[in-house]
Parts: sequence; C-alpha cells; structure tokens
Amino acid sequence: MARTLPDILRCDWPVEAEAPPPATARALERAAAILRRGGLVAIPTETVYGLAADALDEEAVAGIFRAKGRPASNPLIVHVSDVAMARSLAASWPAAAAAITARLWPGPVTVVVPRGPRIPDIVTAGGPTVALRCPDHRLARRLIEVAGTPLAAPSANRSEAVSPTTAHHVLAGLGDKVGLILDGGPCGRGIESTVVDCTTTPPRILRPGPLTREKLETVVGGPVEWPAPAAAGSASAAAARSPGQQARHYAPRTPLEMAGDGTRRAGDLLDAGHRVGLVTTRSDDPAIRALAARRELLVVPMPADPDAYARMLYATLHALDQRDLDAIVVEEPPATEPWKAVHDRLRRASA
Ligand code: TXA
Ligand code: MG
Repeated sequence: MARTLPDILRCDWPVEAEAPPPATARALERAAAILRRGGLVAIPTETVYGLAADALDEEAVAGIFRAKGRPASNPLIVHVSDVAMARSLAASWPAAAAAITARLWPGPVTVVVPRGPRIPDIVTAGGPTVALRCPDHRLARRLIEVAGTPLAAPSANRSEAVSPTTAHHVLAGLGDKVGLILDGGPCGRGIESTVVDCTTTPPRILRPGPLTREKLETVVGGPVEWPAPAAAGSASAAAARSPGQQARHYAPRTPLEMAGDGTRRAGDLLDAGHRVGLVTTRSDDPAIRALAARRELLVVPMPADPDAYARMLYATLHALDQRDLDAIVVEEPPATEPWKAVHDRLRRASA
C-alpha cells in the first residue's frame, strides 16, 4: 500500500548562513529527486505555499491539476530561480517585464509574457502567454536550482479553498495528495502575488497582491492599469485574460460575508441563534466589546495595517473554519488602494 500521509520536513536556514544546514540540504535533495521523476512537492514561498511539479514535464503538471481538482482552463504560474531562467521560457521580453523583474524580483509579483516553446500547453491552458515568478524565499529558489528545472506551482490547496500559509494548512487540505511537504515556516506575505500582464501597453494588473499599483508604476516608469470596471464581473474579458479569477475563490467552508457594519450584522445573526465569528480591526470598540460578552460570538482582532492584515488573513480563516461556526462576518476594510488585495480576497471568499 502506498503511504497516504505525507512527510513534513522542517527546513531551517538561519538568515546569516550562506548555505543551508545539512538537514535542510538533504530535504532539498529529496524534494528535487521527487520533482525530477515527475512527482509533486509542497513548497513554501513568501506569499502562500505552492504545490510544485517540473514545469517542463507535461505528465507531472497534469498531477497538479488532479490533486487540486483544478479545471484545465486555469493556467499555472511557473517559478524560476532568477531572471535568466525566466527569459529562457519567454518568446520575448517586454519592457515592463524587464523593469519589474530587474527591480522587484525576487518578490511577490508575477509577470505574464509571451510564451516560449519549452513551456508545455498544459501549463498555459493552451494560451499564448506564460506567467513567471521568482519567489522571495531561499528554499524555493534553492529547490529550483537543485532540481535544475522551473517549477509550475499553484497555491497548495484544493481548487476554490483558502490558500495555505503554513505547512499544516497544506497537510489539512491536500495531505492525501502530496508525498512531501517542505516546512519553511509561516509565509511572510500571506496572500498570493500580484499578477501583471506585460503583453499590453500599458501593463495591466490581473490580480491585486502584495505589490501595489503605485509601486509597479514607479518601477515601470509609466501607468499600470486595473482591468476596465466593466470587466470586473465574472463572465468578463478580465476573467478570460486571467482564467483563474473566477468570482468564488479562497473560500472557507463556513459561510463568510463582508459587512459594512460588522457589529450590527453579527448582532443580528446572534439574535437569530447562530454561532458567529467576527473579524475586525476595531476589537476595542465599546459596541464590539459589549457584543463580545455573548457566548456564541468569537471576536478575532486584526491589525489595522493592510500588509499585516494580509499576512494573517488566511491563517485566520483556516482557524475560524475549525470552530464549527454558522457564519463568519468580516468587517469591510477601507476601499483604498493599499487594501485592494485584501478586499479582492474577501470579496471572492464571500461570493
Ligand atoms: O503567490 C502566488 O502567486 C502563488 C505562489 C504559490 O507562487 N501561486 C498562485 O498560483 O497563487 P495560483 O495558481 O493559485 O494562481 C495563479 C493565477 C491564476 O489567477 C491564473 O489564472 C493566473 O495566475 N495565470 C496563470 N497563468 C496565466 C497566464 N498565462 N495569463 C494570465 N493569467 C495567468
Ligand atoms: Mg490559488
């Protein structure tokens, strides 16, 4: 009988050490061997954990789609160890991609560029472009180097579920589908990379993420656009350009809703006899403290800074999903640019 539980290997790597300690080097060798023979490995990145396979091996990549239950129409991001590897996978290298990758890699931004001939159809869902990213996590980059191949890796969760930001989230969600999980600690960013289409002028953000439009515009030296507002809906041109951007995504099993007045909404649900989780940046507010005295309410305080909020968001949703609640109410964050990525994930989680 094949094992049905994965090995989780802790991969410590002190910041001051140039080379990984021996145990981590052995874990990387083992992971690389699995990848070279077409298997799957769950890996840490600075955004979320990824479910990795050799991006140049069509059969291996098919395994990712099976494990996640992911529709074949949703293309994957290919992870590289440096800009040179990225360029070897692209048919051309648009100016915006050159600027972004020179200044912001390694980092939480993915560039979509014309696809080179080495990339199999299955990776791009047959499309003419490929999404490339160099993760800001030494373990991920070292693994790519040791395996000697770029890695296709979506978030290591079942399709539409909340992305994992710890090895234990991967275990809980995909534990029977992956043989090896490299534990590189909790993800520093906590939400998926910003995806930028560099095949258009000006470039367009297909998915908001940790790197903001303002930052991208500074680096590109010109405008970077959001998809046209009319395209924001589900059956839209934007969805066609980035097919993974369906409305419902990143969702816990417990029904989640965003509320402008979360205190009031939580109160109404409590009155109706429900067990409620309230996610809020204002847990010291007297109205919330009054409500918090009620037994069927769990108040989860969140940081008021958008980056810190993003870092905790998925871990919070994973934890609340274990609490046997009837509803999760999330107070709507500000509608300002720095909150755009968090807003996007909450909107999808509540769709
Ligand atoms: O931070 C991240 O990007 C994480 C970590 C593991 O690197 N990965 C990730 O992968 O979020 P995934 O598969 O969950 O999301 C990839 C997104 C999807 O929205 C997909 O549609 C889009 O990137 N995408 C991939 N290839 C594309 C392409 N050629 N053109 C447009 N969008 C693409
Ligand atoms: Mg995902």
